[in-house]
Amino acid sequence: MGYRTIVAGTDGSPTAQQAVERAARLAKLLGSKLVLVCAWSTESVAELDAEPTVQSAKAAVAALGVAADAVTVHGEPGPSLSATAAERGADLIVVGSVGMGQVKRFRLGGVAERAAHTAPCDVLIVRTGGAEPRPVRRRVYQGIVTGTDGSATASEAVRRAFDLGMMFETKVTVVYVAGDPLVGAISLERALAAKPKWVPVETLLVEGGDPAAMLAEVARTGGGELVVVGNKGVVGARRWMLSSVPVKVAHEATQDVLIAKTTDRSLEDLAPGQGGLVTVDGRKLAVYVEENGKIHSLSPRCQHMGCTVDWNGADRTWDCPCHGSRYRYDGEVIHGPAKKALDRAEAGD
Ligand code: FES
Repeated sequence: MGYRTIVAGTDGSPTAQQAVERAARLAKLLGSKLVLVCAWSTESVAELDAEPTVQSAKAAVAALGVAADAVTVHGEPGPSLSATAAERGADLIVVGSVGMGQVKRFRLGGVAERAAHTAPCDVLIVRTGGAEPRPVRRRVYQGIVTGTDGSATASEAVRRAFDLGMMFETKVTVVYVAGDPLVGAISLERALAAKPKWVPVETLLVEGGDPAAMLAEVARTGGGELVVVGNKGVVGARRWMLSSVPVKVAHEATQDVLIAKTTDRSLEDLAPGQGGLVTVDGRKLAVYVEENGKIHSLSPRCQHMGCTVDWNGADRTWDCPCHGSRYRYDGEVIHGPAKKALDRAEAGD
């Protein structure tokens, strides 16, 4: 899941500047490539202003010691960000929670929501405007809050939160909101099983209430600076669907919200020569399919401290976002800190 390429949108507004700055700090911490995008159209930035706008953002991040590509795109901001992310193979889109165009439909529920709906990757909505400016942290975020109901999609969002906890060296609070307390206890226990070593985790069982409001509240009162939610519905609860929880959390939270792309891929989605994380019988596997159809099926759990590795298509490697361990397509270690190959995990084991 490491964020190798980050795409950040700007329209030159103060809110976009905050989002661009957050993107630059993330890129600096994680060693990611940063791509700044200014979309122009009759309803957002004028064509003539687009290039100066994106160049000014590029100069601002250069002042933070971050080199960035700067591009202008014709179209609405949300879809343009998603299209650029797809073209560049980006892992993360960063947008501000308000602003990005002066017209109403480009406010949150506009750009952020559209980007979240169409994004091929995770989306970070940076809380801008209104709230007190957050102190600049060396590790960007202090305290992460995420929610679960024990479903596959929620478990994936929790795993993402754990990996981010490792990267930001901070505590993760996993919240089970509403529903049966017994199911909640089991869900939280399962969530803990995926915890990497050394990530401090706290679990909370909250009865009743609106999930989005409760997550935002836990983050607010517990000092969490980032809320992580999945982009898909959580089993059987329509209120958790994308159009409600993530965007609602982003509306209500005084924190940044990361919408993790949790759409499941299955083995059949991988063509020969491709690798990726897939779900087989409810288990997440790291699978690479050779050109001749031979399948390498591995546990995605890094042997160093348990973060989730991700496929690097350019180098045909499994890379760990947490401390940089790299594994060959068949799981053998290329370099550490991990010392052991990824565990084999055949489908059907
Ligand atoms: Fe440290 Fe993977 S958990 S390199």
